[in-house]
Formats: sequence, C-alpha cells, structure tokens
Amino acid sequence: RTRAVVLISGSGSNLQAFIDQIAAGTLTIDIALVVSNKADAFGLIRASQAGIDTAVIEHKAFNSRHAFDVALQEKIDSVKPDLVVLAGFMRILTSEFVNHYSHRLINIHPSLLPKFPGTNTHQRAMDAGEQWHGASIHFVVPEVDAGPIILQGRLAIKENDSVESLQNRIHSIEHKLYPLAIKWFAENRLSIENGQVLLDGETATEQLQ
Ligand code: GAR
Repeated sequence: RTRAVVLISGSGSNLQAFIDQIAAGTLTIDIALVVSNKADAFGLIRASQAGIDTAVIEHKAFNSRHAFDVALQEKIDSVKPDLVVLAGFMRILTSEFVNHYSHRLINIHPSLLPKFPGTNTHQRAMDAGEQWHGASIHFVVPEVDAGPIILQGRLAIKENDSVESLQNRIHSIEHKLYPLAIKWFAENRLSIENGQVLLDGETATEQLQ
C-alpha cells in the first residue's frame, strides 16, 4: 500500500475525505502521518480521531523558510512515505523541498489553474466576472501553483454567489476529486511526459463536473 503523509494548515475537510474513503475501502492507502504548521488546525483532531499519528511544526518557530522546510522534510522522511499530499497547506515551499519530493508531491488548489494562482481565489474569480470556477489537483513544482495538472473539476458561478457559497460547492467537488487523484497515484496509473500528466499513458487529465 502507498504510504502517504498529509500536510494541512486548517480544517482538514479534504483529509477527512481521504479518511472516509480509506474506511470505506474505496481508497487503499495508509496515511502514515499528518503534519500541520498550525497547532490549532482542526484537521489534527480529525486525524487523531482516525488513529493517525500527527505532528505540529510551526513555521513561526523558524527564522527562515529554508530552516522550516528542512525540519518539515526530516519529519516527513522519518516515516518514509511514497507520497506527500498538500491538503490546505498554506505555506510556500522551497525548491529544495519540492525537488526532494519530485513526482510524489501533490497539491489541491481552489481555482481552474492556470487561472488564479495564490490566495483569495473565489473572490478574485467573481471580481473578474468569470463564468466558471473550480479546483485543480496537480503535481508540485517549485513555481507556485504551476505544476502538471492531474484533474480539474469546474462549476458555474451564479449571480448570487458569495465567497462562502462558492467555497462550499468547491469543497464538495474537492472531496470527490482529491481521493480519486490519490487513488490513481496509488494504482501507479499516473505518469508525467513533457510536463503533462498521463493517466494509463493517455492524455485525459481533465474531468469536468
Ligand atoms: C481547500 O479548498 C484547498 O483547495 C485550499 O484550501 C482548502 C483547504 O480545505 N488550498 C489552498 O488554498 C492552497 N493554496 P480543508 O482544510 O478543509 O481541506
């Protein structure tokens, strides 16, 4: 079974989706460790309730991004994972860290990348008058929110949408798509060729809702 480490900063609802699918037998991975950069992240409680080991490494305790990433990497590597999953982890990672986990570091981002990298994506998508919004799951490369895309889900922005209503609908898409992308990884069905993700050797990376 694929051994995963999941990194979080907050609620951990995507982590919960993994936990639920593992319990249901639809996702056959082991989460060896959950690491948060915030001590009060609710996702730590979700992990403990599921019997998963947790660690807190607070970025504030380090005086450089590099020092934080080195400590994070040591903690992650202590459980020898096959896969590192960023699930609402709100820190930018150094290229040394990213390159160390090349092809086994996956992120979810709440926009239809390459649109709206960075933060505050729901408000920005509405302000830009976008018709569509969504979530993207991608392999991580040193450039922020820019790696090869595994899977995207989209939804139509409605006239009366708010940040909260959009975020809720994005979350329900994320909770379906992220476990699926992880399942594909665990089944060894993903490869990267010329910066593009292939599923079973084919270019069919986009799944629209
Ligand atoms: C998710 O919507 C995820 O796409 C986003 O944070 C949320 C975490 O929710 N990630 C980013 O913004 C990464 N820059 P969760 O803690 O409930 O899983």
